[in-house]
Amino acid sequence: MSKTPPTHESTAAGKTPYSQWLQTEALHSLQRPVSDHPGEHAWIVHAQVSELYWMLIIKEIQTAQACLRANDLVQAQRTLQRVVAHHAPLDAIWRSLAWMTPNDLLAMLSRVGPTYGKDTALQGWTYRHMVYLLGIKQAEHLQHFVPQPQRWAQLDKALSEPSLYDDVLAYLARIGLDVPPSVLARDLRAPYSPSQAVEQVWRDIYVDPDARIELQQLGETLADIAEGFMQWKHRHLMATRRTFGTRPAYFGTEGVAWLKPTMEEIPFPELWSARTFIGDPKSSPAAAVCPHLAGQAPDGVNA
Ligand code: HEM
Repeated sequence: MSKTPPTHESTAAGKTPYSQWLQTEALHSLQRPVSDHPGEHAWIVHAQVSELYWMLIIKEIQTAQACLRANDLVQAQRTLQRVVAHHAPLDAIWRSLAWMTPNDLLAMLSRVGPTYGKDTALQGWTYRHMVYLLGIKQAEHLQHFVPQPQRWAQLDKALSEPSLYDDVLAYLARIGLDVPPSVLARDLRAPYSPSQAVEQVWRDIYVDPDARIELQQLGETLADIAEGFMQWKHRHLMATRRTFGTRPAYFGTEGVAWLKPTMEEIPFPELWSARTFIGDPKSSPAAAVCPHLAGQAPDGVNA
């Protein structure tokens, strides 16, 4: 009896439909450790999976932007909810590096420099592109991509184009909310400056809990995305503290000191600052009509 496996006419030699569709041969040839540390494979897989999810988030956000530009809020919202979902594995994956001590990390990192040169994750273009799309525009990060002209051009373009937040604000303006023209026409390459007028737009959207529900849902989805992004940053900061202490990093200064201020760079700033006022008795009828809250004013607030 022949031991030759049967073939299918549409299957290339040495491949299955599964391996062709999911490119498993290529995928599993991409982990190339530089040290003999047994944990380096886990490090590489962690970083590569993160890369894939950041690229996925870029594509989803671009799709959501196209939907907003077509005034299709329902499809934009569905797409952005997928972005919320993609942050969950990005968060969970930190567990797979939880075993790492400074001894482990340095055993791996000490081999990267001699093999490839001085590296930093700031040389990762997917993360930066995602950050630009989230509206955190910092042109200085382009310097890391000079050796990769194609990626430099991609990021330079992303810096010049509207972020997701810009598209949300433009949509809100088109449906009649008071987003100032100066905010819409601002220099898109410059860091975003929060505006009181935009904060007021969010306050107006939330003023009545039972009105403009779809815009409130958009606001909550954006808040979920910002939280998912910040959760990743928190886990990264704690992993850095745990495996690196306060050592100097890429710029020669303390790595943790470089990272800490970035924890204040929270996407969609007025969506957060507006929450100081949303729900105030003066601006919301809810406290007056809800039987559980009737007669109760929040601490320090006179109804
Ligand atoms: C657990 C060990 C790690 C340490 C000690 C560490 C350390 C650092 C430091 C010091 C920075 C600031 C820039 C610099 O000086 O290079 C940085 C930035 C960054 N790292 Fe890590 N890192 C670690 C793991 C990872 C992993 C596994 C990833 C995932 C791919 C990652 C992705 C990033 C990104 C995206 C930035 C830019 C953050 C920003 O711009 O706010 N890091 N890291």
